[in-house]
Amino acid sequence: MKIVFATNNAHKLSEVAQVVGDKFELVTLRECGITEDIPENEPTLEGNALAKARYVYSRTGLNCFADDTGLEVDALNGEPGVRSARYATDGHDDEANKRLLLERMQGVENRAAQFRTAVALIVDGKEYLFEGIVRGDIACEEHGAGGFGYDPLFLPEGGALTFAEMSAEAKNEISHRGRAVRKLAEFLKQM
Ligand code: IMP
Repeated sequence: MKIVFATNNAHKLSEVAQVVGDKFELVTLRECGITEDIPENEPTLEGNALAKARYVYSRTGLNCFADDTGLEVDALNGEPGVRSARYATDGHDDEANKRLLLERMQGVENRAAQFRTAVALIVDGKEYLFEGIVRGDIACEEHGAGGFGYDPLFLPEGGALTFAEMSAEAKNEISHRGRAVRKLAEFLKQM
């Protein structure tokens, strides 16, 4: 089955490709001729994921899915949440985002947080939502060079390594996106 994954993020693409294996042929935005940035102005992860999937479906008519992820920090009342990409600046500056998060968490004892991914799927015009969550803690400094985004600052529950210190396979096994996409893959297999 051919399906569009509404992303141009190479990290996300390789994570998701690893989860769905060869059961689905993933088509990227670029491959279906969408080169512009799709607006992500909704107040929730679910809203943004749906908006992206609807945009792609209306442009291509192809079955598609989109994800949106937020890092939700307990002591910051769920921030940066849906604004995770634009936490420090309007651009998409991972380094500035991580610096700001460390600044806000300076001296904070409760470091509990979660990554949450919403995945929106559109098949033959019908919409479906899936969610994946991983709980963990915000580290006091960056560790590791793998992954992307906030990975060097996120210590998944029960482990001593940040996502950026883990192999792609180990991250995928327990990650927010891995969990959400496994639900999506199970659902698609049963269709
Ligand atoms: P989006 O889902 O691409 O909008 O991501 C929102 C923000 O969360 C961006 O700053 C990403 O870099 C970050 N992000 C998304 N997924 C992950 C992840 O798996 N690990 C670390 N950061 C992530």
